[in-house]
Amino acid sequence: MSIVVTGATGHLGRLVVEGLLEKVPADQITAVVRDTAKATDLADRGVRLHVADYNRPETLPGAFAAGDKVLLISGSEVGQRVPQHQAVIDAAKEAGVALLAYTSILGGPAADFSLADEHKVTEQAITDSGLPYVLLRNGWYNENYTENLSTVLEHGAVVGAAGEGRVASAARADYAAAAVAVLTGEGHEGKAYELSGDTAWGFAEYAEVVARQSGKEIVYGAVSPAEYQSILTGAGVPEPLAATLADVEAAIERGRLDATPGELSRLIGRPTTPIADSVAAALKG
Ligand SMILES: NC(=O)c1ccc[n+]([C@@H]2O[C@H](COP(=O)([O-])OP(=O)(O)OC[C@H]3O[C@@H](n4cnc5c(N)ncnc54)[C@H](OP(=O)(O)O)[C@@H]3O)[C@@H](O)[C@H]2O)c1
Repeated sequence: MSIVVTGATGHLGRLVVEGLLEKVPADQITAVVRDTAKATDLADRGVRLHVADYNRPETLPGAFAAGDKVLLISGSEVGQRVPQHQAVIDAAKEAGVALLAYTSILGGPAADFSLADEHKVTEQAITDSGLPYVLLRNGWYNENYTENLSTVLEHGAVVGAAGEGRVASAARADYAAAAVAVLTGEGHEGKAYELSGDTAWGFAEYAEVVARQSGKEIVYGAVSPAEYQSILTGAGVPEPLAATLADVEAAIERGRLDATPGELSRLIGRPTTPIADSVAAALKG
């Protein structure tokens, strides 16, 4: 029996594998990767590697075995993800895995913005598969914001189209810890966890945090979703992705990413990482 993590060389997957290595022997962990060169350190530590691409279903058999616990980390190619995730679900079903955990989106079926569409279809495919499952409905990462700090510092502005909307974000490491808790614990079958940070913050507040910590003047430059979309396309973001991201801003304004049910801190047994801590870490470089 193995604990299998797909997307293991991504930002979240790496943190999950690191967390698993603290709890279970390396030879009980399988990392599903596209490129073994990105995972040589894991192989050196005794983690089994399986090479597979969600786009090539024939590469998936052998990744999973009967009784395995699997974490399907959602793919990063928006628009391609339904068939990709279906291929993983089919392979997990064929193998007879004991648990399929999936990184979904906060709100699940109630999330009424376009980025959630593929997650909703995937959740349905998982429940239809009859496999024992856990849905990890992840809210936003702190890093969605702190990874763009250099642009904020350069322009002296946090540009956004979420109005007074708030985001209950948490660090990727918090979501990874939740996945580790589910994969190594008992009694999670059939659960859908609404995972988010303990505190929701607004963008003016975020600008103040960055200003305080950087010693620079930073304002919140609130724009409309249409303006936001054209700023993104002007910066080279492809039109469909820019539209999706502008739609997320509007969803934030409607309060779709501000839920603070406390399920993430309960699962990980500690408070989630405040956005100010992630800003400090990002400024340290
Ligand atoms: N909650 C949030 O705020 C938030 C933000 C961004 C993304 N997400 C979602 O959460 C996921 C994990 O986040 P992350 O930060 O770890 O993203 P990430 O660093 O982009 O990692 C994505 C992982 O998916 C793998 N992957 C992508 N396409 C694949 C394919 N066709 N076949 C096999 N593997 C494939 C990548 O493989 P390689 O390592 O080979 O590239 C990578 O390991 C993302 O993919 C996305 O669905 C959530």
